[in-house]
Amino acid sequence: MKHLIDPMDLTVEEIDHLLVLADDIMLHKEKYQEVCRHKKLATLFFEPSTRTRLSFEAAMMELGGNVLGFSSAGSSSATKGESVSDTVRVVSGYADIIAMRHPKEGAPFVAAQKVDVPIINAGDGGHNHPTQTLTDLMTIHREKGRLSDITIGMCGDLKFGRTVHSLIKAMSRYENVRFVMISPIELRLPEYIIKDVFEKKNIAYKEVRTMEEVMPELDILYMTRVQKERFFNEADYVRLKDSFILDEKKLKTAKKDLCIMHPLPRVNEISTKVDDDPRACYFKQAMYGKYVRMALIMTLLGVSANEN
Ligand code: NCD
Repeated sequence: MKHLIDPMDLTVEEIDHLLVLADDIMLHKEKYQEVCRHKKLATLFFEPSTRTRLSFEAAMMELGGNVLGFSSAGSSSATKGESVSDTVRVVSGYADIIAMRHPKEGAPFVAAQKVDVPIINAGDGGHNHPTQTLTDLMTIHREKGRLSDITIGMCGDLKFGRTVHSLIKAMSRYENVRFVMISPIELRLPEYIIKDVFEKKNIAYKEVRTMEEVMPELDILYMTRVQKERFFNEADYVRLKDSFILDEKKLKTAKKDLCIMHPLPRVNEISTKVDDDPRACYFKQAMYGKYVRMALIMTLLGVSANEN
């Protein structure tokens, strides 16, 4: 693996390795605090972000490395008309590894063709978000102790939600995972994922229109925000944005060990009253993201722990 553009760039064995490494980093931070000394990570964010960019930057700092970059297209030469390829080519002379987010699907893939330094896709339009997927897999593994034999419900904007698309692809490789897709019809999962993943691999899935009807079967409930910025029409957004809200009442029939996840940011799709429920895992999930990104940066740069 040289770049990480699509979650399927990683084999199941590579994912196992990253999760083991991330757990070790979390438990033995001292072994890792100098491993990326004199290395630089550039974060090129052409789209807003809080967790992804800051967790990447914190990850590199905790490995003893440095960070540089920009946090919006408006503060880069994109405003002057520079192409993504040119920007990345130039930055590859300043940094050892690049994490980039872009509103256009495929932009990190195109960038990766041009440079020798590793490129990490930190989200490309409605397409993929592989480091969120690593975060999600680490959360499921830590909370459930396994990535197989799981019924996962995904709720909200399944059409534009790139975290959903990436997680489905990654989870489709584990044994006996059942997918329950909960969304209004307008925001249902794109046909290409149903065909290329569920149907092609003969994976159990169903589509439903309410959370209540499936709540008791779920081991994981993955909530998502309506992706306002990818809507073409404001009226559709306003009509759908409150469609699927998780509250204490809906949780009454859920399993005692349900794990509630959300890539965040939350708007109002999970009532803040749910935050105190022991089943709410989303803030832990955001924290795991830093450790798994540390593991990824180390792996792509080919550095290992300091065992002394
Ligand atoms: C997600 C994203 O950017 O796709 N956020 C994140 O990276 N944690 C989810 C979202 O914006 O809704």
